[in-house]
Amino acid sequence: MPEVVVHAKAVEKKYRDVAAVRGVDLEVFRGEFLTLLGPSGCGKTTLLRMIVGFEQPTTGRIVIDGRDVTEVPTYRRPIGMVLQNLALFPHMNVQENITFGLLTRGERKSAALQKATQMLSLVGLAGFGHRLIHELSGGQKQRVALARSIVLEPSVLLLDEPLGALDLKLRQQMQGELKRIQRQVGITFIFVTHDQEEALTMSDRIVVMNAGRIEQIGAPQEIYDHPETMFVASFVGDTNVFAGRAIATAGARVSVELPALGQTVEVQGRGITPGMAVNVMIRPEFVALDDQPGAPCSGQVTDRTFVGADIRYSVTVGNQNLEARRPHRPEDRMLAPSATSGVTIDWANGIAFPSAA
Ligand SMILES: Nc1ncnc2c1ncn2[C@@H]1O[C@H](COP(=O)(O)OP(=O)(O)OP(=O)(O)O)[C@@H](O)[C@H]1O
Ligand SMILES: [Mg+2]
Repeated sequence: MPEVVVHAKAVEKKYRDVAAVRGVDLEVFRGEFLTLLGPSGCGKTTLLRMIVGFEQPTTGRIVIDGRDVTEVPTYRRPIGMVLQNLALFPHMNVQENITFGLLTRGERKSAALQKATQMLSLVGLAGFGHRLIHELSGGQKQRVALARSIVLEPSVLLLDEPLGALDLKLRQQMQGELKRIQRQVGITFIFVTHDQEEALTMSDRIVVMNAGRIEQIGAPQEIYDHPETMFVASFVGDTNVFAGRAIATAGARVSVELPALGQTVEVQGRGITPGMAVNVMIRPEFVALDDQPGAPCSGQVTDRTFVGADIRYSVTVGNQNLEARRPHRPEDRMLAPSATSGVTIDWANGIAFPSAA
């Protein structure tokens, strides 16, 4: 079993009438890159603030390195935090920003300077020690903030949307950098984002949150391929959804009648009983279009978007609108908007959820 470094036990946070975090149980493993993913207002920051000690849980406990720290002030917890607004000291240069924490902790100046130099090369800013903060780009400031936290060698580093202010290109570059740095130093990262692609590309495990609760915890591929709730299915990746009724079940398979298509299909599904109203989700990559209208059904292309490696199509089948995606090859003929196409859906990759869930 991996070693648990942070354990949030039955944690709740209420702000007067708002339940910001509800019944959260979370174990974070040493050395992992864990991401809290969820829509705005789902409680990600509140959970981080309780772990770092800026907030007290209304009920529940926070345990770090096996010690209950619920009543322990932030500065005595073995934890660092990188905030979105960075909070670098503007009147100090880069090196002074990085050594500040070490010096206030009583380290000798020569040792602190040596560590700062190591950190600067780790984050790709060797030679930038004497720059002032306002002389840095957004991405460079981000690296200084990271260096300043990592140099203190916390057990855990919390990062609340640290890349949120960067433009897309820089953001993607920093995603790779952050992952590399985390691997190199081996510090446990708890990273917050509401960007599902960022979560999928960076994390060892993802915690999907919704309305203060944890919906699912798992490796990126597990979350994407085997979402346990409709919320996770639709928040992570794109989905098509069909309303239907379960007519029979066999183990983890379920037959569902789909009125929109006039078909009965066999999909994955757990906890479903015959007669139950369900929603079936199927990802666009499992909807194949071709230019032979007919079996098993035909559709009308209503829109297409060329996105380089893929082409995304919107197609209407019966009275249902569907998204399809297919890899683009130069020799393929694109389907024209308004064309009638054959539609083949790989239902074995569909998943049924009780429609109340
Ligand atoms: N100090 C506070 N007083 C009252 N309500 C608060 C306070 N802080 C947060 N909340 C509420 O708690 C809920 C969770 O907020 P939180 O900041 O944790 O969300 P988040 O997931 O970090 O969202 P975002 O992605 O927008 O940063 C929200 O409904 C928010 O309005
Ligand atoms: Mg937040």
